[in-house]
Amino acid sequence: MSFRIDGDDLPATVRPRPGQCLRTFLRDQGRMGVKKGCDTGDCGACTVHVDGAPVHSCLYPAVRAAGHEVTTIMGLGAPEAPHPVQQAFLQAQGFQCGFCTAGFVMTAAGLGDGRPMGGDELARAFKSNLCRCTGYRAIRDALAGVRTVEDDVPGASVGRSLPAPAGPEIVTGRAEFTLDHAPAGLLHMALLRSPHAHARIRSIDTTAALAVPGVELVLTHEDVPGTLYSTGRHSSRLDDPDDTRILDAVVRHREQRVAAVVADSVAAAEAGVRAILVDWEVLPAVFDPEEALAPGAPLVHGEKDAAASRIADPSRNLVGEVHTVCGDPDAGFARADAIAEGTFHVQRIQHVHLETHGATAWLDRGGSRLNVRTSTQVPFLVRDELALLLGREPSTVRVFAARVGGGFGGKQELLCEDLVALAALRLHRPVRLEFSRAEQFTAATTRHPMRLRVRLGATASGDLTAMELELLSNTGAYGNHGAAVMFHACNESLGVYRCEHVRVDGQVVYTHTVPAGALRGYGLSQSIFAVESVVDDLARQLGIDPIAFRERNVVRPGDRFVAMTDEPDDVEFGSYGLDQCLALVRDALADDTGDEAPGPEWLVGEGVALGMLDAGPPGGHHADARISLEPDGGVRLAVGTAEFGNGTATVHRQIAATALGVGVDAITLVASDTAAVAHDSGAFASAGVFVAGRATWLAAQALASRLAALGQAGVAELAAAGESIVEAASFTGSPRSVGFNVHGFRVAVLPATGEVRILRSVQAADAGVVMNPAQCRAQVEGGTAQALGAALDEEVLIDGSGAVVTADLRTYNWPTMALVPPTEVRFAETHDALGPLGAKPMSEAPFNPVAPALANAIRAATGVRPTRLPMRRDRLWEALADAGVPGTGVEAGPVGAGD
Ligand code: FES
Repeated sequence: MSFRIDGDDLPATVRPRPGQCLRTFLRDQGRMGVKKGCDTGDCGACTVHVDGAPVHSCLYPAVRAAGHEVTTIMGLGAPEAPHPVQQAFLQAQGFQCGFCTAGFVMTAAGLGDGRPMGGDELARAFKSNLCRCTGYRAIRDALAGVRTVEDDVPGASVGRSLPAPAGPEIVTGRAEFTLDHAPAGLLHMALLRSPHAHARIRSIDTTAALAVPGVELVLTHEDVPGTLYSTGRHSSRLDDPDDTRILDAVVRHREQRVAAVVADSVAAAEAGVRAILVDWEVLPAVFDPEEALAPGAPLVHGEKDAAASRIADPSRNLVGEVHTVCGDPDAGFARADAIAEGTFHVQRIQHVHLETHGATAWLDRGGSRLNVRTSTQVPFLVRDELALLLGREPSTVRVFAARVGGGFGGKQELLCEDLVALAALRLHRPVRLEFSRAEQFTAATTRHPMRLRVRLGATASGDLTAMELELLSNTGAYGNHGAAVMFHACNESLGVYRCEHVRVDGQVVYTHTVPAGALRGYGLSQSIFAVESVVDDLARQLGIDPIAFRERNVVRPGDRFVAMTDEPDDVEFGSYGLDQCLALVRDALADDTGDEAPGPEWLVGEGVALGMLDAGPPGGHHADARISLEPDGGVRLAVGTAEFGNGTATVHRQIAATALGVGVDAITLVASDTAAVAHDSGAFASAGVFVAGRATWLAAQALASRLAALGQAGVAELAAAGESIVEAASFTGSPRSVGFNVHGFRVAVLPATGEVRILRSVQAADAGVVMNPAQCRAQVEGGTAQALGAALDEEVLIDGSGAVVTADLRTYNWPTMALVPPTEVRFAETHDALGPLGAKPMSEAPFNPVAPALANAIRAATGVRPTRLPMRRDRLWEALADAGVPGTGVEAGPVGAGD
């Protein structure tokens, strides 16, 4: 049996393990460019060639590759000599986080003749390759041979579509992600997870597990600190309830972690897990948030002290609540000539970042410092909480991220790092934990599902007189992000409208289900769906064009945006582009471009929705940056924020290059490492460009001033002496940046099936000064694609026992390239005086207006208001049939289609 990989013959002694798949075999041989996204053949990240034909190496038995030529992304080309497909991906920047890129490149390179492809042919060829970040347009461009990158101009890089610095490594499979590094002596961890939604451990027997060959350690709740904490990470650890233990004697959702087994292989660790015996006392469980609030409901954290744990009322399963009244809403409704209202349900979805959660921990030689390499958006916040849980000084813990394969808020959690750190400290050996795709669905976090009631009143002339929002949010078994997501949901969704009389009532409750957490939009995707739907209905009732109604009622420059939560949180506008965004979408929909409806039986309609995002949390989001001119003439920039496909690595270099008057290639970036700078709150709340970017700008300006003061001679003297010239700067919290997004759709709906075809999709974004147009456009397209999946198909479904039944990509319905239409992106022309070089953040915001704009278009086409996400084909058909829309195949009823 002989193996030939990337042109190299492996020594004859190298054999796969019995049953080993080609993916893990190739990674064992150092081919780290071969990625794991699912291990079920759905995502394509592991694609390699066997004798030139693309295969999913996760499904391909390694032994079958013997005697054949295997080529991986690393053998296809190298940064200095890329394959034409790799070059095409560089020219079009056909990637963001880059975790999917190897799969797309290998699939494309295996298609044979290398000619540009488009349309259906393209969609068919890539039906088994998934990308979460890009929305596929940049990948289509790469496959069509389009060039989008621009050349650098020293000192004037802002506003240019410069390529990502890591591009050559990404497209050739050399970019190192979290688990592409294996310290010598690495041990592997697997977790025993709960088979019950609510149960107490009477006893746990690990004897047989410890006897499994290769098992080194078993950790149960009896072996770990009992400190209460939250997996959700915020600048202040007091923002989330302390309701979680590393391992607990009580489990509160299916698949909660129960015990950890560490062994010399994944297989041995998993065998150890199977050998653990647990005697369970099964307890009553509650899965529905309304039932959880009812008297007598099973309590999720009933034993906890409310004040000590910062849970609003554990005796009612209440994590937090908000009740705010501005003005006199009752009087406002009494004055209204028209009132519209509705109840909406927004589902649980998963982030589905292609790189699953994973971390490796080890001790420095001598054992003085604990290192944790992890896929995180918040290395400093993870470091601080680890130090607290482990009883160590923060200075003895280093947490850092390599390139992160997508986050979308899911990596603002501490889900792996505590256990691998504990095991490494016990064993004095490196220990790794990597989540499976199933674990992502069943045991990581999700969006908070919500029930929302909205009521709006307006005068006949179209002035809003009163607004009411009531929401019930289900945080699952633990309260990470629960209260903060609820507060955020209540703010900008209403605050974008000028209205004196507003009432908000929100509750977030525990249930015995998989925990919810931070997800792109942070509550706004739920509330904006409800509010923008009712705004649309109210405008229709009044006979006013929905865009004109919004233009009449939205905030204007000089207005105070008043948050609706209990704490006063006034925000100023650094610039204002909402008027432009509304006009841009109106103009785009007014022209006739876009697809035609497939036939006369399809109903056609248009809809719009808007979103406002107040970026950066008020609780002291902080960033440090450090920049130095090195003796060799290079510039070294260190920031704490993480790059996970949001483009901050490119933008930070552009900001520094502009301040220093140099090209971006002169700047080397070190990011997301607690050893590199003093502190950074992390890459969340769209703070990477706005907060960390401002710190970078201040530090780079300081260095530019220092260099000017020293003069050429002074700089040369220091360089000759081997001295670096160093400057550092910080930026904290407020003032913050407010951005706007407006989305418009033209859709066709087929009543016979409930199918929705998107004929035109356009989003206008107020991103301030657009630092990198290609990258910013890709952020908007990626956010739109992710939101379309959430609007139409994606849902984490939970059965009557609390188990997640959509625990793989196939049943979860992640949209492939064929299902994502192109979105036209238009930018408002604004300059945010608060942002670095006038920029605003554009990470989360594009997601928020998509679902309501689509729902409003469906409503315009059919006359039926969708009130529940996702707007699946079967659900929509049922709603159309119930309303008597002609063409559903059900006897026509009283309501006609369209208006
Ligand atoms: Fe495709 Fe991130 S770039 S998954």
